[in-house]
Amino acid sequence: MDKKVYLETFGCQMNVVDSERIISLLAQIGYRQVDSAEEADLVLLNTCSVRDRAERKVYGHLGRFKPIKDRRPELIVGVGGCVAQQEGEKMLAETPYLDIVFGTHNIHKLPEMVLKVEGREGRFHETDFLDKETRLTLFPNRSEGDEVCRFVTIMQGCDNFCTYCVVPHVRGREISRSSAEILDEVRGLAADGMKEVTLIGQNVNSYGIQDERELSFAALLRAVADIDGIERIRFTTSHPKDMSDELIACFADLDKLCHHIHLPVQCGSDPILTKMNRGYSREEYLELVEKLRKACPDIRFSTDIIVGFPGESEADFEQTLDLVEQVRYADAFTFLYSPRPGTAAAEMEETLAPEVKQARFDRLIELQQQISETFWQDDVGKVLPVLVEGESKKGEGQYFGRTTWNRIVNFPGSPKLVGRTVMLRIVKNFRNSQLGEIVSD
Ligand code: SAH
Ligand code: SF4
Ligand code: F3S
Repeated sequence: MDKKVYLETFGCQMNVVDSERIISLLAQIGYRQVDSAEEADLVLLNTCSVRDRAERKVYGHLGRFKPIKDRRPELIVGVGGCVAQQEGEKMLAETPYLDIVFGTHNIHKLPEMVLKVEGREGRFHETDFLDKETRLTLFPNRSEGDEVCRFVTIMQGCDNFCTYCVVPHVRGREISRSSAEILDEVRGLAADGMKEVTLIGQNVNSYGIQDERELSFAALLRAVADIDGIERIRFTTSHPKDMSDELIACFADLDKLCHHIHLPVQCGSDPILTKMNRGYSREEYLELVEKLRKACPDIRFSTDIIVGFPGESEADFEQTLDLVEQVRYADAFTFLYSPRPGTAAAEMEETLAPEVKQARFDRLIELQQQISETFWQDDVGKVLPVLVEGESKKGEGQYFGRTTWNRIVNFPGSPKLVGRTVMLRIVKNFRNSQLGEIVSD
């Protein structure tokens, strides 16, 4: 029988990769992916609980499936990912139309759970964390595919326990995948024509640290760069406290490494950085930025910043604004602090009025917008290499790719360019993309 699954994914790259794995596991029991819940036999949400807003969004989306289930009681509804991990069985108890809850370590059990629900055996939840050895056998390996760019998971979980963050609580302890396996996967993808790889993990810089026989992250990057066919390498996310000189040197030496780094700072004030348990000072962060600029003069930075952490004073916030001006990020993702269950910061007293928090947030966004625009304006007229990833949603005959700085460029092109690097002149800027024209291919 032809069964259909509809899957919605929220959150970070980890969830994007997990969702690909969910689809391939479900294909083994006869499910094919469709793009509307209305026509599906199974609907799934892969969820994120990193901020209150992300979590509420999930509950909103889940509610949309209820009327469908009222009409078609045989519809199977499941929730996975970080909200599922956090809430567990409680979700089943509170949501009568929900059949399956599966946690971040239990994706491999999903097919079995779906088959049981199909057989009317009940409703199920699996949210136990697995031990390290079992997890190491479960890393997704997708050494096939015809895309131009892929994420490759190199580690899972996080041990940093930044005091605001739910990730260590919902993803478990940090483990690194073996470099032999990672390199095999990348070789397989390169053989299929893939050109760009993004190595992903919550804190890629600490890759291999727990295992002295393993490569360091910098050595892993160099090994990936040695693979024929791979033209571009990116990685995310980097933690400033684990940014080694060896890694910084990669930006000077490796032609394939893109000139962009996402280096979350979270805040520009030392007392708040300490309360966040980030493990670096403002000064150390600024030194890193300088070293990276020295190794790679045109490198561009992006960052994450939390506004309104408990106890943040006006002076603390001004330190953040000042740091943003000093670093000159090309892009910043800014978030209003929200307390997360089980985290240390959730126990800290919040004294800021919501309107003060919001006003600071707006000031930061405005400053960052001005800085981002100077980068974009500066790009106009430049001729830049862009790896063409595919057809763009902007309309017929439009294609897209990214600059080394990770900005999306749309341009009039043709299918034969997909997978090739073309030289594009940047002609116009938009908030999330640029418009280019071909100079040479
Ligand atoms: N591992 C990555 C990203 C983690 S989550 C890192 O260490 O940078 C992505 C971003 O969400 C974080 O960088 C942080 O800026 C934000 N974030 C996490 N918890 C938050 C909270 N409780 N409130 C507001 N923003 C939060
Ligand atoms: Fe969260 Fe900190 Fe780990 Fe990033 S490094 S996932 S912010 S605990
Ligand atoms: Fe969200 Fe989970 Fe990623 S909480 S940010 S989807 S690890």
